[in-house]
Amino acid sequence: MIRPILIYPDPELKKKSAPVKVINEKILEIVRDMAETMYDAPGIGLAAPQIGIHQRIVVIDVSAKDEEPDLIVAINPFIIHGEGEAYEEEGCLSVVRFAANVRRHAVVVVKMLNLEGEEVTCRAEGLLAIAFQHEIDHLDGILFVDHLSPLKREMFIKKYRRMLEETQGTA
Ligand code: NI
Repeated sequence: MIRPILIYPDPELKKKSAPVKVINEKILEIVRDMAETMYDAPGIGLAAPQIGIHQRIVVIDVSAKDEEPDLIVAINPFIIHGEGEAYEEEGCLSVVRFAANVRRHAVVVVKMLNLEGEEVTCRAEGLLAIAFQHEIDHLDGILFVDHLSPLKREMFIKKYRRMLEETQGTA
């Protein structure tokens, strides 16, 4: 089922998510809905709080359009190691029509549970490394715009507020 995606500045996006204790049918259903919602958007990643569920679940698929889908489901993911620097443009399904460069690690090692509840470790680089950092941030109530410098962030907020007003005005 495709779920509605919460849009900034929804306060639900600022809440911290709790670890998943048991991977049961309910969690599997959330994962299925998250994947469906992400592919429908379309996006390359989605975190559970973006659909109003405050559990530490992330789905990511950074495969190119002409490639087979490659869905990564990460339960309770956390970064155990980061190195190098990346400064790439990011967007977010919860922050409409805005993109900005964000400083991240170029390589991360992520520990997580898979859907069988087994602990797996993944070394990610490139777009996947950025996606992991962006999505794990969501689980802690952090959006990519929170990483902007105070001046850029202020500009973003003004621009975004105006944009939201304009779209509401024409809707
Ligand atoms: Ni996002």
